[in-house]
Amino acid sequence: MSNRTFTMIKPDAMKNGHAGAILDRIIKEGYRIVALKQTKLSAEKAGEFYAVHSARPFYGELVEFMSSGIIIAAILEKENAVASFRTLIGATDPAKADEGTIRKMYATSLGENAVHGSDSDENAEIEGSFFFSGLEKF
Ligand code: PPS
Repeated sequence: MSNRTFTMIKPDAMKNGHAGAILDRIIKEGYRIVALKQTKLSAEKAGEFYAVHSARPFYGELVEFMSSGIIIAAILEKENAVASFRTLIGATDPAKADEGTIRKMYATSLGENAVHGSDSDENAEIEGSFFFSGLEKF
């Protein structure tokens, strides 16, 4: 089992001023920041990142949203990082997320749900390497 996951603070949470609180929560929950950057995805890059969802009906909306503003991308380290971080962020739909989870506290809607968390160790590695070179991971 790998101890790393990949996250993004999405454009809605950035625009709504939640980035500081979300990063503070992540650190307080014991995640070590391996890499972190503020950036903006082009529609092309967002499409590439979410290519696995290209057949799904919301793909266009997701790509448009994820390229609509600045994001923060980060690689995080903690024991059992992928699963524990998915628990911390809560369900995809904030209306269904548990109380106290990041999406429950900070997400806007199902489509604009504040944060991303990798769904497997393999994807965590792929997604982290999409944003960061080996020289940027500490
Ligand atoms: S997951 O995390 O893969 O289990 O979640 P899933 O429900 O399969 O959703 C995959 C990503 O698509 C986003 N999503 C949506 N965007 C716009 N509109 C609708 N209706 C919608 N449903 C799901 C969801 O936020 C996931 O994005 P990430 O960045 O992976 O969290």
